[in-house]
Amino acid sequence: MKDNQKTVLVVGGAGYIGAHACKAIAAAGMLPVVYDNLVHGHEEFVQWGPFEQGDILDSDRLDAVFRKHKPDAVMHFAAYAYVGESVEKPDIYYRNNVCGTVNLLDAMLRADVRTIVFSSTCATYGIPDAVPITEETAQVPINPYGASKLMIERILTDYGTAFELDWVALRYFNAAGADPDGEIGEWHVPETHLIPLVLEAASGHRTHVTIFGDDYDTLDGTCVRDYIHVSDLADAHVKALEYLAQGGQSDAFNLGNGIGFSVQEVVEAVEEVTDCKVRITIGPRRPGDPARLISDTRRAREELQWQPQYSDLNGIVSSAWKWHQRDKPCN
Ligand code: UFG
Repeated sequence: MKDNQKTVLVVGGAGYIGAHACKAIAAAGMLPVVYDNLVHGHEEFVQWGPFEQGDILDSDRLDAVFRKHKPDAVMHFAAYAYVGESVEKPDIYYRNNVCGTVNLLDAMLRADVRTIVFSSTCATYGIPDAVPITEETAQVPINPYGASKLMIERILTDYGTAFELDWVALRYFNAAGADPDGEIGEWHVPETHLIPLVLEAASGHRTHVTIFGDDYDTLDGTCVRDYIHVSDLADAHVKALEYLAQGGQSDAFNLGNGIGFSVQEVVEAVEEVTDCKVRITIGPRRPGDPARLISDTRRAREELQWQPQYSDLNGIVSSAWKWHQRDKPCN
């Protein structure tokens, strides 16, 4: 028999953001059960509760896991999330992200679990007309990855209306940094994200970093992004569950710091934190990169009572550096 401890099924909980969410769930006194197919996740990241290997497209496996663990709620991080790959292989993005989520939602309904917090993205906005981006900004994704996430938001809305499903969609800006205790961090294979790449260049594990375009209409010509610490994202997921438990309306929320940093500024922050020089080359623009993505997060701050703890870029980079150095000291 289950005691009073709440159980959260964390789908994709062996990945970068999902694992940090598990740590936050456990810190809040709940039990995270990880469901992950380990295509991009790491079993080593499952540290705060049981692990069930499985795919979101496998209904029988999902049903068995729901029966076994009887979760009170679901957090859903499982997705393919490489923008470039999504352009080349839209089939796997729509099948995994969209069909997989429908499959998961149907399994939830069969198990009578009606609360879900979903990982969405600022990629659903495409190239915004203006920044900061509010939740009311038009969502016009420009790649299959962003489109798949927007489709899921729509599916959540419709399932919510028809099946009394309570949901929150969290639209992350640029997730960055690592667990301050150094237990987990950013570990993508292949790595395509700016901060880990610059750290690899700083530590000599990469010869250089190519800046994708220095002719944007920004102060130094490089793209501006809103970097948000992964532990702040994790905390928002726990707050979203509390919000729904208290009767909050199903809704979407932006998660960012509301501060933009250019690629050049990120490189400088890495050099400062690591005290290592980073060799830079300037390359062409990467297709589909908006010049500026900056969030307006008033809704999350007001409705979820969420307040990011790491607004300082050097602090975010320091936590990533600590994780990076676990087996790759600066040389
Ligand atoms: N960049 C470089 N060189 C690199 C890698 C990145 O200059 O080698 C630049 C990019 O052009 C961009 C910035 O660094 O301007 C950040 O790039 P990332 O790849 O780290 O992150 P993105 O902004 O492309 O992607 C993030 C999320 C995606 C999400 C997207 C929305 O990781 O999941 O924001 O735009 F879809």
